[in-house]
Amino acid sequence: MNNWHLELLRLSQDGMLRSLRVVDGGQGPKVLVNGHEVLLLCSNNYLSIANHPALVERMVAATREFGVGAGASRLISGTMPPHAALEERIAEFKGTPAAILFNSGYAANTGVLQGLLGPDDLIFSDELNHASIIDGCRLARARTLVYPHCDMTALAELMERETANRKGRWLIVTDGIFSMDGDLAPLAELCDLKETYDALLMVDDAHGTGVLGSRGRGTGEYCDCLERIDLHMGTLGKALGCAGAYLAADRVVIDMLINHSRSFIFSTSLPPGVPAAAMAAIDLVDSEEGRQMRERLEQNRLQLAGALTAGGMDLLGSTTQIIPVLSREPAPTMQMTARLLEDGIFLQGIRPPTVSPGRCRLRATVMASHDADDLARAAAQIIAVYREFSP
Ligand SMILES: Cc1ncc(COP(=O)(O)O)c(C=O)c1O
Repeated sequence: MNNWHLELLRLSQDGMLRSLRVVDGGQGPKVLVNGHEVLLLCSNNYLSIANHPALVERMVAATREFGVGAGASRLISGTMPPHAALEERIAEFKGTPAAILFNSGYAANTGVLQGLLGPDDLIFSDELNHASIIDGCRLARARTLVYPHCDMTALAELMERETANRKGRWLIVTDGIFSMDGDLAPLAELCDLKETYDALLMVDDAHGTGVLGSRGRGTGEYCDCLERIDLHMGTLGKALGCAGAYLAADRVVIDMLINHSRSFIFSTSLPPGVPAAAMAAIDLVDSEEGRQMRERLEQNRLQLAGALTAGGMDLLGSTTQIIPVLSREPAPTMQMTARLLEDGIFLQGIRPPTVSPGRCRLRATVMASHDADDLARAAAQIIAVYREFSP
């Protein structure tokens, strides 16, 4: 009747089968996997604030005051004081007139692109953009032109070529920090191009928010062009340690999404404790304590990336806390991952379709709370395992 078991068997034979792993003990620098303590090198809780007392207390207090569930979607009866207050705070933080919450980054990217664009519009999308952006382009049913990764000459040529037949709106969309390569989009050049060609620029700053910029306002602040970006998407579940996502933009954009974005309209809103905790997270990020966390994160990044590079690893141009080690094929990648876990180092092997064939990698992420000795040990083990299993 169905051939799913055959498909799963084929995935398994190709070294591509995925399965879930329970991670116990809270999202700290060390966690329990299969009852053993391991160094956590694959969490996006970059600032290690997912279990910070300020966030936990705000979440508990809001839960006591408002209950666990929001009970309805935002347009019905699910807009509660913590949702409204957080949207105002995010707009102020990003320097835009308004902001809107989504239940996840996936819901934000699909809902924003579908909610704002249609078949007459044209999207220019970086080839390494996140899957949720790709799906959002499909849902928008807009024509989508994919440009080579961060290649501004190619993008300019595409835009020039399309100018003669222009109709509808134009939007350039890019990750701020690319989620699998850990490199940065050239935001200043993207701003120049979108201004030259009268397009909008949307930046998915899932991995930059809280991490980059003097106030932690993300890749735009770091590249000194925050106010030139039209649509600021970011997530609350990575460096901010909570859950959910947002788009910050002009009021008319937000009103359009409230009226037209299907993932916003047709979904129960976040539990009120979540925006309450996210408010505490932004306050923390935007404080001296947040600045110190970013400094520690940067030190840790430099240490791990430096040691891996010295050991001859190819880090694919990473300049951020996302540190991939190119391992190419699925089978050795998963052997390395399994061996590292046995040795107390927990990171993920990344395979297609998340990355293109031949570009498998061990994706390590550092956190502000990692200890220098642990990182030194991890680097030595990654290099040793790579040398043992790499073809
Ligand atoms: C660049 C990027 N955008 C969006 C998302 C989706 O965010 P969320 O996990 O909140 O759905 C992710 C997360 O994996 C991401 O890496």
